Amino acid sequence: PFIIELREGRVVEVSAQTTALAALRAAGVPLLASCENGVCGTCECGMLGGQPIHRDSILSKDARGHRFIACVSRATGVLKLDL
Ligand code: FES
Repeated sequence: PFIIELREGRVVEVSAQTTALAALRAAGVPLLASCENGVCGTCECGMLGGQPIHRDSILSKDARGHRFIACVSRATGVLKLDL
């Protein structure tokens, strides 16, 4: 499990059984998605801090420092997203 912190300071827990995308949607954050498999980029978010575990196959090496693919990627601890 890990925690996503939103810009406004609200936190959303992502359990081991769900995805960041699903947890965010369940918390009322409207995120678009399409493939839900880490390849299309529709669910891409800005990332402000934290230790992501990138599992997508679309972000460039550079983008991995500040972008996050919510349908497949995870994190350790608290991940701050630009949402
Ligand atoms: Fe396609 Fe996440 S929905 S990469």
